[in-house]
Amino acid sequence: MTSVTSLFSPVEADLSVLAENLKKLVGARHPILYAAAEHLFGVQGKRVRPAIVLLIARATTLNQEIAPRHRRLAEITEMIHTASLVHDDVVDESDVRRGVATVHSRFGNRVAVLAGDFLFAQSSWYLANLDHLEVVKLLSEVIMDLAEGEIQQGLNRFDHSLSIAAYLDKSYYKTASLIANSSKAAALLSEVSDRLAESLYAYGKHLGLAFQIVDDILDFTGSLEVLGKPAGSDLKSGNLTAPVLFALEEKPYLEVLIEREFSHEGDLEQAIALIHESQGIERSRSLATEHTQLAIENLADLLPSESQQALINLADYVLKRLH
Ligand code: IPE
Ligand code: IPE
Ligand code: MG
Ligand code: MG
Repeated sequence: MTSVTSLFSPVEADLSVLAENLKKLVGARHPILYAAAEHLFGVQGKRVRPAIVLLIARATTLNQEIAPRHRRLAEITEMIHTASLVHDDVVDESDVRRGVATVHSRFGNRVAVLAGDFLFAQSSWYLANLDHLEVVKLLSEVIMDLAEGEIQQGLNRFDHSLSIAAYLDKSYYKTASLIANSSKAAALLSEVSDRLAESLYAYGKHLGLAFQIVDDILDFTGSLEVLGKPAGSDLKSGNLTAPVLFALEEKPYLEVLIEREFSHEGDLEQAIALIHESQGIERSRSLATEHTQLAIENLADLLPSESQQALINLADYVLKRLH
């Protein structure tokens, strides 16, 4: 299987400075928040989002040079993502992220909420300093979308009548919006045509949806050791994702278990068994595959290059990723 590192090889050097820069950008004004942020940036995630920004930057510039504004956009994108994870872990009451203790479990909820806010605020400031109004609009919409996604998810807990369309809508807000809008922003910084900017937005959107669907499958099939975060928590907390929604069509008894919020002993185990017996996981995989195909189709207008190829391969990686 292609590793993320070889996949990102055209921008590997750029990515290695990103982590250091992120720590510097967060600054040392508030030691406790800095400690929280450093704790997070000290252990790297997969860096999928900044890699996409940098790959699009290269693929849309003639001499394949990445401008300082592109680099800053990649940093802002990872900063927004990380802020959303700090808050998401508070909402989900998750204790492990990227293989280490989450900010809230280590420093408490108050610090985690403030650290997330602080990162969002910092990212907005760096965003404004890009001095590109259209890009500012795109990325500030993402910050609204992230909140919208968490709210929708919170409101729909244990609602077994949730449709796949509503699930995808929520997944757009929570995950795909950031990838789509930062892809488009990277293209705008390269002054590409409106048409190409829209195609790259669509690439990010479909890749983001596939990424979330696969993440939701991994919650059923992965383990803490491999994922670096707890598995099996979505269903328990009432977050009904693609595998469950498909399984519900075949296994009506799941409705009963969800309705009573798995309150009887053995309910959760029974529900998980029913999902594994159903076509739920397989159908979720097909749905993710459809979205990666749509993502790839939207790369047709990019000139062939090593970076363009990496963007294509990334879609394949999303489907096969193990963590
Ligand atoms: C986690 O994103 C949140 C989802 C959208 C599923 P990643 O899986 O990209 O997390 P890191 O950055 O690699 O830790
Ligand atoms: C994605 O949702 C998190 C955000 C985009 C804020 P999840 O709740 O599925 O993410 P994980 O599984 O905790 O990484
Ligand atoms: Mg979560
Ligand atoms: Mg998840």
